[in-house]
Amino acid sequence: MSARAELRHLLALIAGTFTCVALAGSAYADEPDAAAAAHARQLAVAVCGTCHGVQGNSQQPKFPRLAGQGASYLGAQLRNFRAQTRGDPDAISYMWGMASALNDETIDALAQYYTHQSAGRVPVRDAALVASGRSIYEKGLPDKGVPPCAGCHGSDAHGVADFPRLAGQHSQYILKQLASFQSNMRNVAAMHGVAVNLRTPEMEAVAAYLQGLP
Ligand code: HEC
Ligand code: HEC
Repeated sequence: MSARAELRHLLALIAGTFTCVALAGSAYADEPDAAAAAHARQLAVAVCGTCHGVQGNSQQPKFPRLAGQGASYLGAQLRNFRAQTRGDPDAISYMWGMASALNDETIDALAQYYTHQSAGRVPVRDAALVASGRSIYEKGLPDKGVPPCAGCHGSDAHGVADFPRLAGQHSQYILKQLASFQSNMRNVAAMHGVAVNLRTPEMEAVAAYLQGLP
């Protein structure tokens, strides 16, 4: 699919028409990096931005913030949506269609776009909740077998290698993902092992702490 056809296809998806755009033009993989980057920026602004925010700092908690997220994690998730292996209901209804139209080069260029945007944060007022969330994040809950989140996601929650950034993410989104890992709707062994022993109030505390982090 050419860059323009890809954009039209995604815009049609957004409009809810699900129009299939005919293949046209040169193979996208042959285009130079600068063109891929420009195409990704155009998609990010015109298509993805309607939900995720133009620079990836979405204002609505249903839509995850992508700004400053690790590029390899972003690329892996877009491939998971495309392969239809990340399967909770919101992933299915919002992201499977979006990702189906993206080729590998566009996915990698989109990942580069978002990783280079500066991440924002959403302040949290409940200091007691934040303090108990911080304790879970840094120390885990040893008596319940919950490991410290910091061990994988980094002490500042900015992510480490393939472990995603969590700092500044909407708490509502984090909560929903923890529940999806727990029920295996989002089927990832490493996070199932973490979430399976967390109760809802503990999830709420750690999610509040993370949302407020710069
Ligand atoms: C109509 C709204 C909508 C549009 C448009 C949209 N997304 Fe999403 N996206 C979502 C929702 C909702 C989720 C969360 C799915 C879930 O809860 O599992 C999501 C999740 C993601 C994730 C996973 C984030 C994470 O932290 O794991 C990535 C990456 C992503 N979208 C990238 C994109 C890109 C790139 C585009 C444009 C090609 C795009 N999205 C367009 C709604 C949208
Ligand atoms: C053993 C390593 C490990 C530990 C410990 C860990 N995580 Fe994770 N976490 C991961 C991996 C790997 C992923 C990416 C899953 C994927 O590829 O879909 C992830 C993903 C997540 C996500 C989804 C992020 C997104 O943008 O969708 C959240 C939320 C999360 N972890 C929260 C936590 C919390 C809270 C804790 C501590 C209670 C924790 N994690 C502990 C490895 C870990």
